[in-house]
Amino acid sequence: MSVPAPPTSRTVADLRTHVDAWHKAGETVALVPTMGALHDGHLSLVKLAAEHADRVVVSIFVNPAQFAAHEDLGTYPRDETGDAAKLADLKVDLIYAPDGDEMYPDNFSTRIIVDGISEGLCGASRPHFFGGVATVVAKLFLQTRPDAAVFGEKDFQQLLVIRRMTRDLDLPIDVIGAPILREPDGLAMSSRNASLSDEDRSRAPDLNRVLQEAAEELSTGENINDVTDTARKALEVAGFVVDYLEVRHGETLASLDTIKGKTSARVLAAAILGKTRLIDNVVVPEPRD
Ligand code: PAF
Repeated sequence: MSVPAPPTSRTVADLRTHVDAWHKAGETVALVPTMGALHDGHLSLVKLAAEHADRVVVSIFVNPAQFAAHEDLGTYPRDETGDAAKLADLKVDLIYAPDGDEMYPDNFSTRIIVDGISEGLCGASRPHFFGGVATVVAKLFLQTRPDAAVFGEKDFQQLLVIRRMTRDLDLPIDVIGAPILREPDGLAMSSRNASLSDEDRSRAPDLNRVLQEAAEELSTGENINDVTDTARKALEVAGFVVDYLEVRHGETLASLDTIKGKTSARVLAAAILGKTRLIDNVVVPEPRD
């Protein structure tokens, strides 16, 4: 017998009726913001949210403010019915799926810019992106007023931008990072994987393989520039157009010139296969002596 899908709120007023009632009853609420086209990676965020709160709200909103005119807003996958069916099997209390006018009424004119940490990496090639993300996430936080919110570590810069914004604006929300879920061949799960051609799908795991190899080499004390040069070339040989491949501090995203003595470092990359932009990151194991 199929399980009924969770109820869906379309308006801020209806969302707040649910959340206020839960808070009044002494229950905690976790929010999982998504743009839909849910895959197992999203579902792992939902499961983590349920471990942190009594109630779970999943938002589904393809946010125009984080896409540039030339990007894939028009073709971004949408499947609200399929998404609701997937969430029916999990502990989800409410789906929040506002339409564009509910989120951005006429004459909407505010944009939240998180300086510094939004610059470089994805912020360099998608300069509009983190402003759009920070604005919609701030709105989702203020609309829902959750106690906690879960974001995937695949979008690692996004996670840190949201953490910084939440801290800077004194939003009383615990921002939780969830580990990357991968396909058996290592490819990080992403809604955009569905747009890879069969040939590109077979090459795509090379992104993770190259990052893992780079992280291992860095942990043995190899020079950062040598390792990143080799990794970039390996990706190009595998058919990727590399947007960036960099080693950064794992908490501040500050550039690093050496791994020695650093407790936290990550190798982060964005690379394009065909028309699909993939991102991934891996932790650099602590340097071995
Ligand atoms: O990671 C995403 O799916 C989106 O950037 C988010 C956080 C839901 C904001 O639109």
